[in-house]
Amino acid sequence: MIDGPLAGVTPASNGQFLAVVNDAITRETVKTAALQMGWQNPKVREGGADAALKLIQSTAVPGFLLVDISDSDDPLLAMSALAGFCGGETHVLAIGMLNDVALYRRLIEMGVSDYLIKPVSSQAVMAAIQTATRDEPRPAARPTSARQVAMIGARGGVGTTTIALSVAWILSQQQQQVVLVDLDLHFGSLALSLDIEPGRGFREILGSPDRIDSLLIGAAMTSAGDRLRILGAEEPLEDTLNLGNDGLATLLTDLTTSVDCIVVDLPRSLGPMTRHVLGVADAIGIVTDLSLPAMRDTQRLIGLIKAIRENARLFVIVNRMGGVAGEVSRADFERGIGAKIAYAIPFDAKAAVAAAERAKPLVEVARQPKTVSELHGLAVGLLGAEEKPASPPTLLRRILGK
Ligand SMILES: Nc1ncnc2c1ncn2[C@@H]1O[C@H](COP(=O)(O)OP(=O)(O)O)[C@@H](O)[C@H]1O
Ligand SMILES: [Mg+2]
Repeated sequence: MIDGPLAGVTPASNGQFLAVVNDAITRETVKTAALQMGWQNPKVREGGADAALKLIQSTAVPGFLLVDISDSDDPLLAMSALAGFCGGETHVLAIGMLNDVALYRRLIEMGVSDYLIKPVSSQAVMAAIQTATRDEPRPAARPTSARQVAMIGARGGVGTTTIALSVAWILSQQQQQVVLVDLDLHFGSLALSLDIEPGRGFREILGSPDRIDSLLIGAAMTSAGDRLRILGAEEPLEDTLNLGNDGLATLLTDLTTSVDCIVVDLPRSLGPMTRHVLGVADAIGIVTDLSLPAMRDTQRLIGLIKAIRENARLFVIVNRMGGVAGEVSRADFERGIGAKIAYAIPFDAKAAVAAAERAKPLVEVARQPKTVSELHGLAVGLLGAEEKPASPPTLLRRILGK
């Protein structure tokens, strides 16, 4: 515990202090604490997690964020949506009314530094700020071998490329070195959706396994931002591509030693390369909408993947939910495919338009909390962070900067 005000302390963390708190008394307490911890102009606003999200979207991401979750229907969902907008440096404290150990644990697992229960003293808030900002953000540990994630669409146009790109972008934001591979050499649209040229040489790499080395791979990749690179092609439609899977296998093996994560956007043509990826990926996402044809093909894809690998980690991802003609209900869909839907991303026309206009990943421009939180949940789920207790900073922890 800290006794008395701290004289002459420098701001405990870089950047703005933002607190969004429901009641006036706690706002006053928090403001006093922030001033005493050295912030010149702490921003203390009225509201809860939703208001905090709006503020962060419309202004800047703060270095320190204190959020009142006492009015949230689903505090965990609200906090994960917030996480989506915070860079790696933001320290987050939650405050609420519920004395609930399970909630506390989930928040801590998510990367929230502490959960304080009202009423609070400014001493308690100061102590929590000090603990939260004491240790520097830890750099992500590089796994010995990259995680390989595959995305395949049950139908064309369901949003497979959109989701693969968003997932790759989220992971790159979380300090992972990511390579996004577009295996549709004729019609791939990944690079196009970011308004960049697909690099040259990808087809050659796939076609000549014995020539592959890290230099060649590096030259074929196009940078799509910090820690995110793309491998793709735009081969002439006249060309028949009879590439086996040797080149791809060699490429993936090489990449697994040099990056943290490989995300593959698979075409629906089930050639040798697609089958190879389905056989080796650590996690596979089947992207679908809730239409009847997509239901049938999701079920068939699950069958195919299980036949290739019985214990594959499979995720059924519904996209464009609520926006497709002739949707079946979620329960009927799950019954039809004989599996659970893992994530459901709403039909978000605004986000899709903004993404296309600005040539950005959908998740970067999305404003609907559900769109953002489902995509973040998906990125974490695909990587299987919950299965790797050996690396303490979970993904959300990294987003939240703890
Ligand atoms: N959640 C969503 N809400 C609304 N439109 C979406 C959503 N996800 C993707 N889209 C749009 O759907 C179209 C097809 O997406 P795309 O990712 O190219 O599909 P696929 O790779 O499955 O063919 C694009 O115009 C994209 O902007
Ligand atoms: Mg596509």
